[in-house]
Amino acid sequence: MRFDRSSIPEVGRLLAMLTAARPRGRFAEIGTGCGVGAAWIASALGPEAVFVTVENDEECAAAAGRLFEELPNLRVLHGDWHVLLPPKGPSTSCSSTGATGRAETSPLRANTRWSSSLRAAWSSSTT
Ligand SMILES: C[S@@+](CC[C@H](N)C(=O)[O-])C[C@H]1O[C@@H](n2cnc3c(N)ncnc32)[C@H](O)[C@@H]1O
Repeated sequence: MRFDRSSIPEVGRLLAMLTAARPRGRFAEIGTGCGVGAAWIASALGPEAVFVTVENDEECAAAAGRLFEELPNLRVLHGDWHVLLPPKGPSTSCSSTGATGRAETSPLRANTRWSSSLRAAWSSSTT
């Protein structure tokens, strides 16, 4: 599978650091891609933490699902995050490293805490 929009290692390390800061956190990722960012988050995920990542490309979602199938607290969902995250999504922290949307109208806004760096990344990824 060819995929060239994965997070760079610097972003991955930031994701891991933010994840490690909340050992019982509930995390969401908007746009799994092929799972690079999710792998960084998974590498720092506490045993009591929960992580949901959503990808609307079927092939990518399936590949990432296989990659993480043995991790009980990580779920890869296939579909549009606008539809899937409000009912199934976590509330502690949300990462977007590429999927587009409008933060100001996001249904996640009311129950999601954004770090300033993630808010900046989100803003620059939306038009
Ligand atoms: C830049 S890539 C993600 C990179 C990945 N997060 C990482 O860290 O390596 C953006 C992904 O968002 C997905 N995407 C775009 N719009 C989406 C939506 N509305 N819902 C779910 N996924 C979406 C795209 O298919 C693409 O795979």
